Amino acid sequence: MLKRLHDDIRRCTRCSLHATRKNAVPGEGPVDAQVFFVGEAPGAIEDEQGRPFVGRSGVLLTELINEIGLSRGEVFITSVLKSRPPSNRPPYAWEIGACRPYLDRQLEIVNPRVTVLLGAVAITSIIGPWKVSEAHGRFYECDGRTFFMTYHPAAALRSTKVKEIMHNDFEILRRELCL
Ligand code: URA
Repeated sequence: MLKRLHDDIRRCTRCSLHATRKNAVPGEGPVDAQVFFVGEAPGAIEDEQGRPFVGRSGVLLTELINEIGLSRGEVFITSVLKSRPPSNRPPYAWEIGACRPYLDRQLEIVNPRVTVLLGAVAITSIIGPWKVSEAHGRFYECDGRTFFMTYHPAAALRSTKVKEIMHNDFEILRRELCL
């Protein structure tokens, strides 16, 4: 089921980003993953490789995942947008809207215990406008799903303070998951 969906995503032409991307990046992880991470959009390296979070943000995300006793191979990782916006500009609302059914379907199929929203775009797209500085470290129940909110790893690469906050947020997540 997931494979068919990901093949559809790779062929998707619902928005104009299909014309500038090298590869769509559907996401990856086991279909029975208990923890599901949602970023913003693929960057240059992800676009090259067709895989999520394989650049510098991905190195930090993997470190944070490992720190709470999980391996990258046992979680699901994707982003709100499945195609890279040119020059990594922020996603437009209509691109988020066009891609949203794919994320919804991935969540339906994987049905994780917790969905971790990484940064403002993921939080705002799924829950609604909420400052990351207020939302981070919190769980939020919505439509029968449990979401956990934190910063995007790219923000932590720019600020040691944010990086510290992310480590604390992941510790909150670890305790909730009893890992
Ligand atoms: N940032 C994201 O939000 N997603 C990726 O896949 C890579 C970087």
